[in-house]
Amino acid sequence: MSEHIKKVYSFYAWIYDAFFGRIFEHGRYTAFNMMNVKPNESILEVGMGTGLSLPLYPKEAHVTGIDISKEMLDKAEMKKQYYRLSNVSLYNMDASSMSFADNTFDKVIASHVITVVPDPLSALNEIKRVCKKDGEIFILNYTGCNNRIISRFEKFISPFREKLGLGKHIDLDELLEEAHLPIECERRVNFLNVCRLIKCKNNSVFAETSLTFGLHRDS
Ligand SMILES: C[S@@+](CC[C@H](N)C(=O)[O-])C[C@H]1O[C@@H](n2cnc3c(N)ncnc32)[C@H](O)[C@@H]1O
Repeated sequence: MSEHIKKVYSFYAWIYDAFFGRIFEHGRYTAFNMMNVKPNESILEVGMGTGLSLPLYPKEAHVTGIDISKEMLDKAEMKKQYYRLSNVSLYNMDASSMSFADNTFDKVIASHVITVVPDPLSALNEIKRVCKKDGEIFILNYTGCNNRIISRFEKFISPFREKLGLGKHIDLDELLEEAHLPIECERRVNFLNVCRLIKCKNNSVFAETSLTFGLHRDS
């Protein structure tokens, strides 16, 4: 599955900014404002993609971006060079098994990623592990319209979206509950409010998954 995502995004890398740069701009800016990044804070962007949000961060913050697609990350690297962002570190890494130590980041954001990863619960567990206790976790994702007919259609096309690497239909509330991530606040963003931007506090309580996280846990 990860191999499929890598393949799909190696293709999208060349057109991603042209397609999704403007479409998701409102959500990106709103997320950045909600994150309220302060100097010296350490930020992790999971599935950073082409680094569209990189120019927004203050240069005094330490920003780390990971992505499973090398081609997407290459685009982020180009932005890092172009904007001379010496405060940014980029890694080719899987969200479900990150090599960072426990309690590393003050704030973690996963923007349009959680529906794309093969195992969202494992990814959330990893995000919680690397985020400091009482740190903040932000999830921004397309969740669809409130309209019942459109939402039925969206569920119908979910397998095709998944094949195209554009994310599958998931019940985000159920997932966050399972991951022991209570919602602190949230906003609807982007055109027709089709995306949810959610802020959670990291309580370091982990969900049971099929993978072993015991090695990393410290609580
Ligand atoms: C829809 S794009 C979102 C990119 C960026 N966060 C944004 O908001 O524009 C999804 C990104 O998640 C990455 N991704 C998918 N599965 C991943 C995984 N298991 N670990 C890390 N990144 C992953 C993809 O390579 C892609 O860059």
